[in-house]
Formats: sequence, structure tokens, C-alpha cells
Amino acid sequence: MTILMVCLGNICRSPLAEGILLQKIKVAGLDWKVDSAGTNGFHVNEAPHYLSQRVAKKKGIDISHQICRRFVTADFDRFDKIYAMAGDVVDEMKQISGNKFNNAKVDLLLNVVHPGENRDIPDPWYGPEAGYYEVFDLIDEACEVLIKTIP
Ligand code: 4NP
Repeated sequence: MTILMVCLGNICRSPLAEGILLQKIKVAGLDWKVDSAGTNGFHVNEAPHYLSQRVAKKKGIDISHQICRRFVTADFDRFDKIYAMAGDVVDEMKQISGNKFNNAKVDLLLNVVHPGENRDIPDPWYGPEAGYYEVFDLIDEACEVLIKTIP
């Protein structure tokens, strides 16, 4: 199983999603591959936002080695499943990929927990540190379900 986590910047939400799911995969002893990417490319080659790094570290997860990259259409060939953090991220992926957008591979991450509700994971970029903890908990809950539901 190969999974890609996607947000806008690939510095706040999707790096957390990558780190959280990878830790659960490790604990479960599964052979899954996980990566993350962003649609806007503003922070390419940067490490995750320091507040994402900080909340992850407090929860025992090191994401400091991750390097921001942009989502590309070829990701549809490389990954079995692509989870977007929010609806605007899906819109951006459609802009990037045009008629190569593969709807069957894409879902919102929170639909794993709340099927069909199309809930967004809020963008913590403009907000205070507390937003990063809220994001961590939402992603953690979704990944906990994800790891149990995918065969
Ligand atoms: P993320 O947050 O999508 O969770 O990584 C953002 C980070 C940066 C920007 C937007 C969202 N930005 O426009 O620079």
C-alpha cells in the first residue's frame, strides 16, 4: 500500500499526516510507503513548519528530516491512495492534473472517520500554536482508523 498525503504548502498539515501514519505503520509492522506533497510549491525544499515539528516532537514523532515538495500528476501513478487535507486542496490538485486527475484514488482524509461528510482539516498556517495541536489530533484520529480499515 502506498499513500500520499497532500495539503497546500506541504509544511504544516501533510508533513504531520506523513509522520503520524508512518509511526502507526511502524508500530503495526506493516510494509506501507507514505509520502506527502503540497499543491502550491511556495515552500519547496523547506523543512516542515517549526510548530508542526514541535507538536510532532511533543507526541514522540520526528518530522524534522522531511523536505517539502510539490504535488505532481505523476503521483497518481506512484500512489495507491491520495488523501487531501481539505476541499481546496482537491481543487488545486484538479487544476494541476486536469484530465489526468484520478478521482478514484483521491479522498479527503477526514472522510475516513466521517464518511461522505467532506470535512476539512483546518489550515493552521495563519493561526496560533493551538491550531497545530487541533490538526495533530484530527489527523491522528483519521490515521488510527485508516490503518485498521485498509486491508
Ligand atoms: P499547509 O499550510 O497547507 O498545511 O502546509 C500552509 C502553509 C503555507 C501556505 C499555505 C498553507 N502558504 O500559502 O504559504
